[in-house]
Amino acid sequence: MESWIRVLILVACLFPAVVECRVRHFKFNVVMRNTSRLCSSKPIVTVNGRFPGPTLYAREDDTVLVKVVNHVTYNVSIHWHGIRQLRTGWADGPAYITQCPIQPGQSYVYNFTITGQRGTLLWHAHISWLRATVHGGIVVLPKRGVPYPFPKPNKEVVVILGEWWKSDTEAVVNEALNSGLAPNVSDAHTINGHPGSLSNCSTQDGFTLSVESGKSYMLRIINAALNEELFFKIAGHKLTIVEVDAVYVKPFKIDTIVIAPGQTTNAIITADQGSGKYMIAASPFMDSPVAVDNLTATATLHYSGTLSSSPATLTNPPPQNATAVANNFITSLKSLNSKNFPAKVPLTVDHSLFFTVGLGINPCPTCIAGNGSRVVAGINNVTFVMPTTALLQAHFFNIKGVFTTDFPGNPPTTFNYTGAPPQTLQTINGTKVYRVSYNDTVQVVLQDTGIIAPENHPIHLHGFNFFAVGRGLGNFNPKNDTKSFNLVDPVERNTIGVPSGGWVAIRFLADNPGVWFLHCHLEVHTTWGLKMAFLVDNGKGPNESLLPPPSDLPKC
Ligand code: C2O
Repeated sequence: MESWIRVLILVACLFPAVVECRVRHFKFNVVMRNTSRLCSSKPIVTVNGRFPGPTLYAREDDTVLVKVVNHVTYNVSIHWHGIRQLRTGWADGPAYITQCPIQPGQSYVYNFTITGQRGTLLWHAHISWLRATVHGGIVVLPKRGVPYPFPKPNKEVVVILGEWWKSDTEAVVNEALNSGLAPNVSDAHTINGHPGSLSNCSTQDGFTLSVESGKSYMLRIINAALNEELFFKIAGHKLTIVEVDAVYVKPFKIDTIVIAPGQTTNAIITADQGSGKYMIAASPFMDSPVAVDNLTATATLHYSGTLSSSPATLTNPPPQNATAVANNFITSLKSLNSKNFPAKVPLTVDHSLFFTVGLGINPCPTCIAGNGSRVVAGINNVTFVMPTTALLQAHFFNIKGVFTTDFPGNPPTTFNYTGAPPQTLQTINGTKVYRVSYNDTVQVVLQDTGIIAPENHPIHLHGFNFFAVGRGLGNFNPKNDTKSFNLVDPVERNTIGVPSGGWVAIRFLADNPGVWFLHCHLEVHTTWGLKMAFLVDNGKGPNESLLPPPSDLPKC
């Protein structure tokens, strides 16, 4: 394209209300920036010097081009979490899965079209622990002229929850890998980048949500934390939930939501209380004996006309182990399943898979602090080993020796998954994928194990949304539990919490050719190997086939 035309389009596209732009260009400069929180300052990796990073706004059907330029000394890749990437796996972003990382001084243009999706998602770095500070919102507006299936709120606000470490997060993960032990927990939670007043060390009260009496606000809440599920609530105000993971749900009102890393929730609030200030709180949810950062992040909902010196109405966050509060939210989620937004639940299953998810212990002669062993994690007893060539490249160019297609559909031995631990806690290492044909239907029962500790694992699948058709405590019982599956209006999402000591069943249609990562979205567990990939073969003809890679695809 002529460069003056490109400039003209770029300028015009800054005014989406005036001009319809089907192609949106963004530039993400990955740069270091000194940032202070909790009375100390450290250099962090950012996009465009911002923390959290810029929100990417687009519309359904838009083509998005993001030029990512790596100005830091780390390798970088960016994932557009929840964007389906139909036939464009090259733009998905997980390092060594769909692309080699962008090396220092290099750049890569992520090029994808947003098809059949609208709502809130997030983008984040997908290599090592860089997503701690390299993340931001994605807002996909409905096609022009298509309304929300609920009354349009007066205003919309992106609310990003995160975690802050005083030390460098790359040092935190490297120390854990050397010792074989669990990494340190974070030092604070954040709401739009700020821990707020409860951290005893803030120069300000944190993020302020300014409201006008009588108006309604849609909060696009994103959990961008590395390792912690969070409760979120606002003193004196009910949340009306209308969407999760960019899929509409049947609206319901609730006091407290729970949101796992990688998940998003759209909640509408009405400023219907007496003017004043009200506390917004984000606090950890962990219902198993695992260490967490127990600090509550706070922000303030501020009615216009209220003096800034007036005290805020406080709220008590739920206790850390409040399983019932979490379940109350989770079991209320149902697909909207309307004429315009039907729930297309697969009613038959071509691949019925049973995946145990949990921890293990492997020998590690160099792990001195860990006494010669290290904590690992895996699926069906396989601890995933990252390749040095991206799986998608190996698949497309038929490079042998990078992965094998023998990922097991069942655990190697059956045991009482949520009871006493099995004889050996050791896992096997491997770079294994599970292969399916185009348009196959897949059911995966994700079963938590009690090995070391039962724990809630938020499992994320790239390339697809899935339906959460069943959920329960203890061991999944195929005879009885299948009968109570919801095949009518189950929630549709891209990240689902496997309850501590329980299971969840998901179904999806493999209508997207490529290699798609599935992993726990607690970065600590991903690091330990709780990950695998699906390989979906091409269907018939070009419309059912993976596109060829772009010419600037990074090299390893
Ligand atoms: Cu949001 Cu593979 O991750």
